[in-house]
Amino acid sequence: MANGLADDLATTVLLATDRPILLAPAMNHVMWAHPATEANLETLLARGIRTVGPAAGELAEGETGMGRMSEPLDIIAAIEAHFALPGPLKGRRALVTSGPTYEPIDPVRYFANRSSGKQGHAIAAALAALGAETILVTGPTHEADPADVAVTRIETAEEMLAACRAALPADVAVCAAAVADWRIAERRNQKLKKKVGEVPILRLTENPDILAALSSAGKQRPRLVVGFAAETEAVIANATAKRRKKGCDWIVANDVSADVMGGEENLVHVIDANGSDTWPRLPKHEVARRLAQRIADHFTPTR
Ligand code: C5P
Repeated sequence: MANGLADDLATTVLLATDRPILLAPAMNHVMWAHPATEANLETLLARGIRTVGPAAGELAEGETGMGRMSEPLDIIAAIEAHFALPGPLKGRRALVTSGPTYEPIDPVRYFANRSSGKQGHAIAAALAALGAETILVTGPTHEADPADVAVTRIETAEEMLAACRAALPADVAVCAAAVADWRIAERRNQKLKKKVGEVPILRLTENPDILAALSSAGKQRPRLVVGFAAETEAVIANATAKRRKKGCDWIVANDVSADVMGGEENLVHVIDANGSDTWPRLPKHEVARRLAQRIADHFTPTR
């Protein structure tokens, strides 16, 4: 492209168009760092061509580094940002929780819930892609920061709650984090010593419920509060009860009897005051996109 070669469809289109161009480069990390690539990129940037990514992470050939193609939703967000297309959630503030929480036992040990953060991060990206000013409060994950999202990293449930409160006011909150229900009652400042034949007894205490806290935040309550419920049986009945108990508006119930934890797909039922809506088994990014669209429709029902 930098050299004006047009020997296949893609390069021909790029040379023949007078439209703005956004590139999403993706390649091996050594290739990306090569001076030849750098020089070509500079040429293209000087011509007014814009880029999104690449991101750091696992690469197609099995290596890790800078060169991973940006997530499709990040590319959509970049298109909207670069070309100023107003999204339906423009002017709205969204708060999303994602990932696990880590609850320290002592300075070197912790316990946590199993959570990849895939679904929560995808929801933050999807809300941002529709124009929402999005804040993502996340526990430790391997997910890349979504484009155009303000990311706050926390470890414990108490830190997550404080970060969520600090992020208010918000029009919508989506709690997709897998928050640990308990933490250690007396956290040790020194590493617990191993003694042969003796095991420590750890006393737990209850963690705050962030979804319930946001749902009952009085004047600060987001107009729409969405929770998740991972269920293995009586999915809709249990999630319907959870919606009432937590005081949120919608519950996205995922049926985790199949293999969805850490997987790429999710099977969900969206439950609100009027009943439930079952979606087909979909990639997590598609669940996020549909949920963001449903949120946008909720705020602008006439569209
Ligand atoms: O009660 P349960 O953990 O099954 O509820 C799941 C929902 O509640 C999720 O939306 C999760 O993010 C949220 N939650 C929370 N804080 C907790 C526990 C769960 O926000 N301490």
